[in-house]
Amino acid sequence: MEADKYLPLISKPQDIIPGDGNSDAEIVFIGEAGGYNESVQRKPFVGQAGKLLDKLLELSDIKREDVYITNMVKTRPPNNRDPLPDELKSYENYLDRELKVIKPKVIITLGRFSMAKFLPNVFISGVHGKKYEVLFDNRKIIVVPMYHPAASLRNGSILEQEKKDFINLKTILTETLSQEGDKIDPVQLELI
Ligand code: URA
Repeated sequence: MEADKYLPLISKPQDIIPGDGNSDAEIVFIGEAGGYNESVQRKPFVGQAGKLLDKLLELSDIKREDVYITNMVKTRPPNNRDPLPDELKSYENYLDRELKVIKPKVIITLGRFSMAKFLPNVFISGVHGKKYEVLFDNRKIIVVPMYHPAASLRNGSILEQEKKDFINLKTILTETLSQEGDKIDPVQLELI
């Protein structure tokens, strides 16, 4: 709560880059912080990394309008530097509230900062593309850590791995989201 009083990197409300997408989404993507294009359009992942993310989503058969995309830090750090620990902490309540409202079943982390929120003390090179069950807000959520698209733009072998991870994500999503078939829908309820 204290952290809410101090949101760094803001000089005016328009500096905020809010999360974007479907607020009923089953899948939430969490990046790091916006860059120049995101700060102008006030939307996450609309620059070069966003264009690559759009292509990666296609490999998983995910429509961007079906998911929710947000960042750990809701502003642009100067010169696109890594967010500082203090900045990550200050925006944590904001992110937690987004997740408590949306209640996603699957969270895809993009890069090491969002990964560390759910899977501390691991290296992305050892866990990328795999699914992990974590407890958040008293609910079990599947977390899939992915390389940050900006890392893939810089490194061809990471890009190849990331493409494989997004193709494989299709299977993870099918397994995870179809378990929801256990839910009784209102039509079935009438028949019982
Ligand atoms: N990188 C991020 O982590 N987030 C964005 O919104 C854009 C680039």
